[in-house]
Amino acid sequence: MAAEIKIRVNEQVHSVSAAPDTPLLYVLSNDLQLQGPRFGCGLAQCGSCSVLVDGAEMRSCVIPVSAVVGKSVTTLEGLPAWYAKQKKLAKAPALHPVQQAFIDEQAVQCGYCFNGMIIQAAELLSKTPRPTEAQIRSAMNGHLCRCGAYPRVIKAIKRAARITSGVLHAANDEAKAEVAR
Ligand code: FES
Ligand code: FES
Repeated sequence: MAAEIKIRVNEQVHSVSAAPDTPLLYVLSNDLQLQGPRFGCGLAQCGSCSVLVDGAEMRSCVIPVSAVVGKSVTTLEGLPAWYAKQKKLAKAPALHPVQQAFIDEQAVQCGYCFNGMIIQAAELLSKTPRPTEAQIRSAMNGHLCRCGAYPRVIKAIKRAARITSGVLHAANDEAKAEVAR
C-alpha cells in the first residue's frame, strides 16, 4: 500500500507516495524524473542503476525506497555538488572530475553503463585518492559494459585520480610555466 515517504536526493528533500518496498530506482526515475540511474538487469548484477547512499555505491534497482529514509542519496545529476561538498569548494564544478575525465578520454561508447561506472569511480576516488590499477579493476569489477570499453574506463579513472589529487593541475601549471619561459 502506498505511503507518504520523505527521501533526501541530491541534497533536496522530496515527499513521494510509494509502497515502502518500491525499488528506489523506480522512484528516482518515475517520481523525481532523474535519468542518470538506468534500469539494466534489475538484479543488482550490472551496475547501471548505481547511486551513492551516504557516499557508498549501491544498486538502486534492489534497494527499497524505505531503506534510504534518513539517508542521503546522490545520483549522477548531483555528483558535481557532492564532490564540491566533499572537497569544500565554494562552487560546484559543471562536472565531477570523473565525468570530465570520461569525456576527455572518450571512454563512452553507447553510454548505457556509464552512470554506474562514474558513480563507482567517484566513490573509489573519495576513499582511495590514488588507486593502483589493481584497485581500480577490483572496484569496477561489478560493472558490466556490453561495448567492452573497460580499457578506456580505466584510463579515464587514472586521469580523474590525477586531477582530484592535484597532480594533473600541478603538471599543467608546470607546463604553462615552461611555455612562458
Ligand atoms: S539494473 Fe541495477 S544492477 Fe542492473
Ligand atoms: S559503453 Fe556501451 S555498455 Fe558500456
